Amino acid sequence: MCGIVGYIGERNALPVLINGLKRLEYRGYDSAGVAVLGENLQIRKCKGKVTDLEKHLDKSLQSGTVGIGHTRWATHGEPNDVNAHPHESHHGKFVIIHNGIIENYSRLRDRLIERDVKFKSETDTEVLANLIEFIYEKSEVGAELAVRLALSKVIGAYGLVVMCKDEPDKLIAARKGSPLVIGVGNEEYFLASDATPIVEYTKSVIYLNDGDVAIIRKEQLILKTLKNDEQGPTVQQLNIDIGEIDKGGYEHFMLKEIFEQPKSINDTFRGRVRSEESEIHLGGLYNVLPKLIEAERIIIIGCGTSWHAGLVGEYLFEDLARISVEVEYASEFRYRNPIINHDDVVIAISQSGETADTLAAIRLAKERGAMVLGICNVVGSSIPRETDAGVYTHAGPEIGVASTKAFTCQVTVLAMMAIMISRKKGLITDERYRDIIREFTEIPGKIEKILRHNHDIKKVAELFQNATNSLYLGRGYLFPVALEGALKLKEISYIHAEGYPAAEMKHGPIALIDTKMPVVVVATKDSSYEKIVSNIQEVKARNGVVIAVVTEGDTVIKNMADHVFEIPQVDNIFAALLSVVPLQLFSYYIAVMRGCNVDQPRNLAKSVTVE
Ligand code: M6R
Repeated sequence: MCGIVGYIGERNALPVLINGLKRLEYRGYDSAGVAVLGENLQIRKCKGKVTDLEKHLDKSLQSGTVGIGHTRWATHGEPNDVNAHPHESHHGKFVIIHNGIIENYSRLRDRLIERDVKFKSETDTEVLANLIEFIYEKSEVGAELAVRLALSKVIGAYGLVVMCKDEPDKLIAARKGSPLVIGVGNEEYFLASDATPIVEYTKSVIYLNDGDVAIIRKEQLILKTLKNDEQGPTVQQLNIDIGEIDKGGYEHFMLKEIFEQPKSINDTFRGRVRSEESEIHLGGLYNVLPKLIEAERIIIIGCGTSWHAGLVGEYLFEDLARISVEVEYASEFRYRNPIINHDDVVIAISQSGETADTLAAIRLAKERGAMVLGICNVVGSSIPRETDAGVYTHAGPEIGVASTKAFTCQVTVLAMMAIMISRKKGLITDERYRDIIREFTEIPGKIEKILRHNHDIKKVAELFQNATNSLYLGRGYLFPVALEGALKLKEISYIHAEGYPAAEMKHGPIALIDTKMPVVVVATKDSSYEKIVSNIQEVKARNGVVIAVVTEGDTVIKNMADHVFEIPQVDNIFAALLSVVPLQLFSYYIAVMRGCNVDQPRNLAKSVTVE
């Protein structure tokens, strides 16, 4: 978590840093700070958001053309002014920003204290600043070598940028486990945790790899390993546009991203699902297709919403491709002693491509000989680089902490994979294949139709804005949707919400039902329809309040439920793609009505890069 930015060049650094921090605030927003090097080095930092930091900025910071900035998601030490980054070393020679965790910080700190080094904060980052300075002063080496030597003593993860007062012409950046991108301008460089703060200045970027150290002067960048081996940086071109990372007239990123779903699903299809007559083409899987088709078992790993998408994938792969599937929380999988066979295929799903637990689970699966595929949104992120092959979702940047369009694009990719395997295995007739592809390509248009009814969903949200508890139920393909609907509500509105398989309700949660608690039932017309109608009756028989997601024209549930959200008729295998949309909007409107910070919910961060 945490967002870091840096600049070196001819511009006034401060606006570059502040704009960058605003773009990265989704990664953490407990405190913020900047350090700017002009005539002298100035640091401003405080608890709170970047807008709070702006109140502490004055003219004296305007002249610097080198600077670094940080927005924090606290791990070591509570969010307060002192623990905010940047951190200055004991004698003030080094200033550092850091994203990640230094695991052996306590031992390093004790050893520095024994040598009279003084600390101001409780953070692991200050240990790193002091260690660098200690080596610099004791060994009389330059800043670069001091940084490399200090990092070789560190256990843990870091994306960091270091400024040295004695060497004001350079920034030193390093990466291990936490992302760092460098934008290459004309005699200027931009650094950031992801490309969003960079894209408005340049589209040429270098993604640092684990173990890389970059020594950056305004006219030159040198890339090395920790052991001092120089390497040629690979400059890549970004294909995102500045418009994609603005709110585009919407009140919140989350609302914009919900409304972008027809487009992002179309982008995810593009070039892959062409026509009813041609095969699905997933270029990223081309080299691994034989193994994927022959797989005895698929293990899907992910966290949060990505794990929910994986559950939909389980139904899809088993239904269509007849491959047995297990879906695992990455955080559990990595600490178990999982049985992984050589002919298993592991699929890691992640929007950010940086989730620490998912990355660790990938490494474990690879160590044990499995082929690992990735389904990721952020191009060039760690997961696509560590997996054997994969498919990008083309959802575009997702800034709202609550994942929306990433989920529907992940499900779109999983559906494409399952249909493609099914077809290659000869499990699907030509006629069924044509029907499926036709239905699939109609999904964006059907989502547009749901979105046009957003005002009806808002009216129902108004009635439930003061709820304290809620239950979400679904069966089959719609069970993961119930989980996802519940996650959306709890994470942005702080209303307790529990997702359950509808049939399990009578094994416990039915005791919660009263006249106040909304029970949201995802009950579109599928093979479990009759069963879920019975579940709704069970709720109504106990005077429960039912909000149901139903198929257009369904009069049976309409007569039973208190409120309904209609979605167009759709094949069972695509039901998740449509039915989740009203639940995203429902959560969004409730959270707005409760005055919650929808895009930056409390205690959360967009990508969880700590375990
Ligand atoms: O970037 P990832 O998809 O790996 O992130 C996984 C979860 O952290 C993420 O889905 C989280 O649960 C979202 N806040 C859900 O809206």
